[in-house]
This record gives sequence, C-alpha cells and structure tokens, in this order.
Amino acid sequence: MQANSPLVVENLSVNRSKRVVLDDVSLTIERGEFVGLVGPNGGGKTTFLLTILGILKPIQGSVELFGSRNPSSNIFRKIGWVSQHASNIPKNIKITVRELVELGTLNSSNMFWIYNSEQKERVARAIELTGLKSVEDRNIFNLSGGQRQRAVIARALASNAEFILLDEPLVGLDRESRNSLLNFLDRLCHESQKTILMVSHDIAAIQQSSHRMVFLEESIKYDGESGCFPSLSELANLRGIEPVHKSNYNENQIYQLEDMESK
Ligand SMILES: Nc1ncnc2c1ncn2[C@@H]1O[C@H](COP(=O)(O)OP(=O)(O)O)[C@@H](O)[C@H]1O
Ligand SMILES: [Mg+2]
Repeated sequence: MQANSPLVVENLSVNRSKRVVLDDVSLTIERGEFVGLVGPNGGGKTTFLLTILGILKPIQGSVELFGSRNPSSNIFRKIGWVSQHASNIPKNIKITVRELVELGTLNSSNMFWIYNSEQKERVARAIELTGLKSVEDRNIFNLSGGQRQRAVIARALASNAEFILLDEPLVGLDRESRNSLLNFLDRLCHESQKTILMVSHDIAAIQQSSHRMVFLEESIKYDGESGCFPSLSELANLRGIEPVHKSNYNENQIYQLEDMESK
C-alpha cells in the first residue's frame, strides 16, 4: 500500500435511518486506476461516495484521502465530485461552457475571483481535454446530453482534481455519447494519471472501460479485474440468491442468460 493512495477505506460501516446500508467495506484505490462501482439499486453506492466525501459519517471504520484521515482543504481540492444530477442545471441559468468550467477554479481562498493566468490555463486545458473547444462559447442548454456531461466533468478537472468521483454519469446518454465519455475517462487515467471511481448500473458499459470492478450490495461481493467479473449465475451465488426454478433449469437456459449479459 502506497502512503499517498488517493483512497484507503477500512472496515467502513454506515447506517441510514437506523438501517445498515454499508457493512464492513474496505477498498484501496491507487493512482491512475479506473474503478467501476456497480450494484443493485439501493445497494449503497451513493452512500459510499457521500461517506468518502465526508458528507455522511460512518458508525465504524475510516476513510483516508491521499494519506489523510482529516483532509484539509488542500486535499479536498484534489477531489472532483460529479453528482448524479450534476448536468441537470436549471434552465433559467444562462451560462456558457467556459463560464461553467471557470466555476471549477473558484474556492474559498479566491471567492472574489481574481482570475489569474494560471486559472485561465487550467480552464483552457480542461475544455481542450474534454473536446469542448468548438462549443466553449455556447450556452450549455444548446449542447447534447453527452457534451453537457463532459462540461460538468471539465468543471471538476479545472479545479485540478486528481481523483474524480462520478455518480451515474451515463444515465440519459445515447450510445455514442456514452462510448465517447468512457473513452475519454479511460484516456484521463492513462495519459493524465487521474484516478476515477465511477458508479453505474450499466455493468456491460463499465466492464468494457474500467480496469477494475467493485460490486457493492451492503458489503463488497466482488472486487477484481473487469475482465474477470462474474457471470450472472456466479453473481447470484455471491449475492446469496437461490435459483427459484432450480428443477426447470437446464444448461441451455444458463447459456442464454450468459449470452444476454455479454450483450
Ligand atoms: N436520504 C436518505 N435517508 C435515509 N435512507 C436513505 C437515504 N438515501 C438513501 N437511503 C437508503 O440507503 C440505502 C442505500 O441507498 P443508496 O446509497 O442511494 O444506493 P444506490 O446509490 O446504490 O442506489 C437504500 O436502502 C436507501 O433507501
Ligand atoms: Mg445512487
């Protein structure tokens, strides 16, 4: 374990409304990794991200960001957070792509926004990296869903984020936008050594792009290479789901299920 891993979570348990939502979760993510966090609805994925960010408090266990259990604002500056509805910006806000990305460079120490050349450069680089140069002066409502999603990611990049957490960024995207966003995130890890933890219920899409997958349902049921992610029947077994129609099962049906999954 490196001293400065972006994330080290140990034995984390979280309750919500007095119910156990996360139970003894441990996870370490190293620099440059692209980790896909998958699991059923209500399995605790969003809760996990909110606990990492310090918004929810665990009843047990610890979260370490870049080697720190009590992250200072300097460490929080390295974290980019793209929430589930980040690209649903209210329609009455008239804002261009560049203005949105510039907001990423705002923090408590430059509230009055003395916009210096270093910030300007970060904004330009984030727009370049996300492929939005040709639309930077456009109102964000005149963008496609995929471009808008990239714009909120550019805002996180402009803040100098090294570790980016994304909650369901693929929702509402068509196939082409989804593929280009996944390619882009993969390049960010390989070429810019960013670290990504991305939540999605689209297991197939995640499996094609992330290096490592974590299946979370109260506790971690799988953590390993994306290429070795369990089949549907193995997954049911890991989750403790018994086949209801056991006596009717035959090999063909199992193969059909596996075929469906690989599509
Ligand atoms: N604001 C909340 N207050 C109380 N319980 C909540 C709240 N949000 C989510 N939960 C509960 O926490 C559990 C995990 O939810 P969540 O982390 O949103 O799962 P996921 O993101 O995997 O769908 C669910 O049982 C859900 O009902
Ligand atoms: Mg969620």
